[in-house]
Amino acid sequence: RVGSNRQQNRQTETTESLSAEAQHADGAWKFTNTADSDPAMRANLEWAKAIAERIPTSKLGVKTAAEAEITDHAELDKFIQKIKLGARAWAAKPAAERADILHKVGVEITRRRADLIEVAGAELGKGLDQADVEVSEAADFAHYYAQQALELEKVNGAEFSPVDVTLVTPPWNFPLAIPAGGVLAALAAGSGAILKPASVSKRCGAIIAECLWAAGVPADVFGLVNVGEKELGKELVTDKRIGRVVLTGGAETAELFRSWDPTLKLMAETSGKNSIIVTPSADLDLAVKDIVNSAFGHAGQKCSACSYAILVGSAGFSKRVRNQIVDAVKSLNIGWADDLSVQMGPLSVEPGEKLMRGLTKLEPGQRWVVEPKQLDETGRLWSPGVRAGVEVGSEYHMTEYFGPLLGIMRVDTLEEAIMAQNLTHYGLTAGLHSLDAEEINLWLNNVEAGNVYVNRGITGAIVQRQPFGGWKRSVVGEGAKAGGPNYLFGFGEFTATELKP
Ligand code: SER
Repeated sequence: RVGSNRQQNRQTETTESLSAEAQHADGAWKFTNTADSDPAMRANLEWAKAIAERIPTSKLGVKTAAEAEITDHAELDKFIQKIKLGARAWAAKPAAERADILHKVGVEITRRRADLIEVAGAELGKGLDQADVEVSEAADFAHYYAQQALELEKVNGAEFSPVDVTLVTPPWNFPLAIPAGGVLAALAAGSGAILKPASVSKRCGAIIAECLWAAGVPADVFGLVNVGEKELGKELVTDKRIGRVVLTGGAETAELFRSWDPTLKLMAETSGKNSIIVTPSADLDLAVKDIVNSAFGHAGQKCSACSYAILVGSAGFSKRVRNQIVDAVKSLNIGWADDLSVQMGPLSVEPGEKLMRGLTKLEPGQRWVVEPKQLDETGRLWSPGVRAGVEVGSEYHMTEYFGPLLGIMRVDTLEEAIMAQNLTHYGLTAGLHSLDAEEINLWLNNVEAGNVYVNRGITGAIVQRQPFGGWKRSVVGEGAKAGGPNYLFGFGEFTATELKP
């Protein structure tokens, strides 16, 4: 953890454990989702195979998602009112009662692990290893926010009043953990919650909703909704009964929401353009592994993904690291989510215009060292692309592509590398690979990002250990970092009360 004031609200981690999901040990929950660990270390291959066989025919979540479809104004109005009224009784419960239900949600999510993985694979082509860690993260959120609900009740000299209704609008790239996290935080704080999943991940949202209801969250406290029409979506987001909107998505979506209502109480985690610096003192094998995993896990469709590597030092050093990256990328096993040997799966949606440009066009001075190729007729399966010669301030440097792309930039000094890293509009994640204490300190004191990691990959933040959230344009509106100790405060207001003598 970093000491100086400007860095208090962010987390620095140097290591990561490979342990299993949240466990109950000596009365304490451990938050140790398996993000980015080697799947072979923890997976039961037979179990994974059984899930994979179900994926192509999976109908899970279809019925629940269909039941959540709202198509007109009157229905939507009734739905929001139901949650608004139900939330009062929820807020009045002692925190311990709410916490107990949330722990049960965590247990239910873990019990339905195979179903959750299956539906993420069927609906979005998400790989088994990537979906598996998401399930762990979703369960971690449940247990962590349950604990935090108890902490919130202990705040002295002030009374916390949760908002009645929180709307959670998650993205499709983490279709399980992010919806679960937003809803569970709202519920832990005593707010009612409405989940509107991304339109391409309705079934994932539906399975999460099933877990919440099965564990005992009342249907008038938490509701699932899908709105087909944009006008109804706008009505939902701007409804005055909605006290908070939790958005995870592109910066443009946050701007759109704000344009609909400038007074919106928004807690948004938005885009990123993240990089990893490698200095000559680094453990190169580790650095290359972390760069490749952070760039190409889930085909780069993570706001936290590593979009470019900044290699510090001579042309010779740079060439050596680049060659090692190229070898590693060429060895990746690419395919659909059908077994655990797949290291990079398909895109969840067909590439849009921006990503297509990134996959097919180079700027002057750049060249492919691994050229991306479309691998099948779906348009969604691509091989990874690595371009060398990325210049500071180039279009590639400034653009979030959200796909399987990595750029390589070379600079002479660590100071230049830090300037390049800080130059983008965003500040979500950032990494440094160095074994030199002075370099590490220099970097920590100057890097501008919410989640900064030394000698570790830059995706897969672990609940409680690495609260997640950005700086600069990676964050819009209010709210502390998700999965951290202050997050629940965002879901209501404090009123000062008289301290008892
Ligand atoms: N929390 C995720 C990560 O750390 C991104 O949403 O990769």
